[in-house]
Amino acid sequence: MTGFPFRAATLVCRASAWLIFVMQCGHARDRQFKFSEPWHQATSTAGRWRRCIVKVSMKSNSMQEKNYASPAESDRYGLVAIAFHWLLALAIVCAFLLGHYMSDLPLSMTRLKLFSWHKWLGVTILALSALRLLWRLSHRPPVDLPMPAWQARAAHLTHGLLYLLFFAVPLAGWAYSSAAGFPIVWFGVLPLPDFVPVDKALAASLKEAHELLANGLALVVLLHLAAALQHQFLNRDGLLQRMLPARR
Ligand code: HEM
Ligand code: HEM
Repeated sequence: MTGFPFRAATLVCRASAWLIFVMQCGHARDRQFKFSEPWHQATSTAGRWRRCIVKVSMKSNSMQEKNYASPAESDRYGLVAIAFHWLLALAIVCAFLLGHYMSDLPLSMTRLKLFSWHKWLGVTILALSALRLLWRLSHRPPVDLPMPAWQARAAHLTHGLLYLLFFAVPLAGWAYSSAAGFPIVWFGVLPLPDFVPVDKALAASLKEAHELLANGLALVVLLHLAAALQHQFLNRDGLLQRMLPARR
């Protein structure tokens, strides 16, 4: 709720709370309005009204504080960047979990199907990451929030590393698939080229590299998540709101 009705309601609640506070402290000139019980323990009808008004007033205050923390339009990511962020975050977490799950399965039709789905999802992530990078390079991100210089540097480094791994992990997976002699047909319709020859020794190294890079990506994501939670719950600087659509 914003605009005039919200401001008017806030004003009325504040005025009521102030009145009650003055009367509770015994500053009211008219002694007949002095209350005999604390507002939060009131049981009479009038007391319950007082309690209600004070609570609404407190709520409107905290809502206003949240509004102050909400960044302006120019200080947040655009809708396309936000859509890329959350879509790719979900896809990458799914690919990671699926990768570990399917690798542990015994040889079966289910394992083969999951391998195909993992590869298709991975190639989709690669394509979306390329579009995302193009978008990022052509659209200025919001300026940094006020924070120590080392934290800003660490955030930029983490984001850069994430972008690098968005390409390195799927490309290593794709190269491994080609070296192992399993060409990829994206969603069963689009055959993708093999850019490395079939080679068992190379395949073994690329498998290791793919796993290592994927686990590295997971580690950087955990770091990124910890930093986002620190900003949200300890610093309370509205960083997360920058990556969420604006509330109208
Ligand atoms: C629940 C989990 C996540 C939260 C709460 C979160 C939160 C955020 C926030 C608040 C930002 C903006 C930082 C700023 O304004 O400086 C951001 C940026 C970013 N996040 Fe996340 N994120 C999450 C998961 C992920 C995942 C899983 C990935 C990738 C695997 C990811 C990749 C990125 C990247 C690359 C940026 C930089 C965007 C850019 O500047 O282009 N995030 N994230
Ligand atoms: C960002 C995207 C991706 C992520 C996060 C990811 C993650 C993983 C993970 C965690 C594993 C398990 C590693 C292990 O425990 O051995 C795995 C295995 C695998 N990945 Fe990916 N992957 C991605 C993209 C791809 C792509 C694009 C391909 C191929 C086109 C691919 C092909 C494979 C294959 C064939 C395996 C099985 C390795 C084996 O056990 O033989 N991955 N992936």
